Amino acid sequence: MPDTALLVSAVDLAATLLAPLGTRWHHTIGVAHRAERVASTVRAADRDLLVAAAWLHDIGYAARDTGFHPVDGARHLSALGWPSRLVALVAHHSGARFTAQAQGLGHLMSAYPHEDSPVSDALAYADQTTDPEGGPVTLRGRLAEMLARHGSDSANARAHHLRGPYLHAVADRVEGRL
Ligand SMILES: [Fe+2]
Repeated sequence: MPDTALLVSAVDLAATLLAPLGTRWHHTIGVAHRAERVASTVRAADRDLLVAAAWLHDIGYAARDTGFHPVDGARHLSALGWPSRLVALVAHHSGARFTAQAQGLGHLMSAYPHEDSPVSDALAYADQTTDPEGGPVTLRGRLAEMLARHGSDSANARAHHLRGPYLHAVADRVEGRL
């Protein structure tokens, strides 16, 4: 069933929290639009959930708690009473579990069930084919930029041998469904 109210609330909360952050907001708008364009890869009943999660996936940057933005976003949404499936999608977006593990923060993820589905794939694909300024980018380009930005000693770099292949498999699945 479409959930227009969920989507409207997601845009509203994302704008409130992220618009003041500038670039992060432009990235979010780009991810949400990309999610709309790949929404045909998920069940009709899940499309609003997908796009709502795209709007909200990075709000952890504006609601700092642990310092790990996927979990911070999930905690914030959970405290506000958002649906648990959406909360878990935000916690796990774009292979966050691999980065959490590399940072010794794996235990923070255990509160959120890991969904491995066309919805989690489409969310990761939308995020990882949108650059930090909101423009389109290939997955390969996005990962290269991310590694350059975070540095070779970063948790992102340490997680890359697991997260990279996961994201490439995600991209193959999404493009196969389009
Ligand atoms: Fe993102």
